[in-house]
Amino acid sequence: MSATSAARVEVRPLADFVTLRVGGPAEIWHVDDVAGVREATREPFRVLGAGSNLLVADDGVAERVVRLGRGFDDGRTFGSDADVWLGAATPLPGLVRRAKEAGLSGLEGLLGIPAALGGAIAMNAGTRYGEIADVLVEVEAFVEGEVVRLPADALRFGYRTAHLPEGAVLLRARLRLTPSTPERVAAALAPVDAARAGQPKAKSAGCAFTNPPGDSAGRLIDAAGLKGVRVGDAMVSPDHANFIVNLGHATAADVDALLAEIQRRVEVPLEVEWRRWGR
Ligand code: FAD
Ligand code: EPU
Repeated sequence: MSATSAARVEVRPLADFVTLRVGGPAEIWHVDDVAGVREATREPFRVLGAGSNLLVADDGVAERVVRLGRGFDDGRTFGSDADVWLGAATPLPGLVRRAKEAGLSGLEGLLGIPAALGGAIAMNAGTRYGEIADVLVEVEAFVEGEVVRLPADALRFGYRTAHLPEGAVLLRARLRLTPSTPERVAAALAPVDAARAGQPKAKSAGCAFTNPPGDSAGRLIDAAGLKGVRVGDAMVSPDHANFIVNLGHATAADVDALLAEIQRRVEVPLEVEWRRWGR
């Protein structure tokens, strides 16, 4: 571990920072303020959120990996304001819980998504019950050496997509929630919870493929008889066929081979939802 004036730097396997627990080493730049972001982004870089949508190569990545730390996490200070600025490292699960306690509606569809706020915006995380774009007003981002504000519209959200400016690091986001009551928010959370009940608890990166128009990748993979199929320690989850789970020692090569096998055996073209890092 070494430290600069504004960042803490260490070389670690990215497997330690992603939910699939796969991936080789990288230089991790832990930053807690804009000065840290400025310093970390002087060389080629990637931005890490909660690592819940990433497939990282076994060789790791050559670029610096920027990880926003506590200075960008407002999980503990989030109160009862319906219109609120929150740091990009704020974990979504805590936000959803606290919004319920405060009787604020708008985040219910995001229940169970293990993202950080910045990663949720970069991927437009959501479910059929709602997505982050629904409540986003504007973001503050570090772009080409400057802190800029962008209205939500500028990010042109789609299904699991957003268009960030090239090389942007999301720093903070302004959300607009709707005053309600804890009881009503709890009632709105119930169907989302039920929809997630069949998803695996094992290590994964969520759904591997986006749903093709009008169908579900999970249904198609299941119908192709692929539940339980394994390459090494990577397995098509027996609980939900669009999840690939790591049974313990899966490598990125295992996961890649399994993705290719699924794409070969399902007749409808399937697109990988995850972001791939490294070769
Ligand atoms: P990461 O995986 O760390 O990064 C994803 C992308 O965002 C990368 O390109 C990264 O560079 C970029 N990024 C991250 N932070 C920033 C930032 N501050 N500035 C700029 N770019 C940034 N997704 C859904 O949409 N719906 C679901 O229901 C869902 N369920 C899931 C369930 C499980 C069990 C798991 C493990 C994942 C699930 N996911 C789901 C996938 C994942 O949680 C989302 O894609 C989420 O938005 C990823 O956020 P993250 O913070 O983990 O980002
Ligand atoms: N199905 C099967 N077999 C399976 C899985 C699903 O037959 O193994 C069938 C179900 O019975 C249902 C249909 O497929 O009829 C849809 O399944 P589900 O309700 O589980 O939804 P999904 O389309 O598979 C989507 C999102 C999830 C999100 C859930 C909950 C995508 C790719 N997936 O899953 O998002 O959590 O809805 O709303 O859009 C993610 O993006 O990472 C993710 C997990």
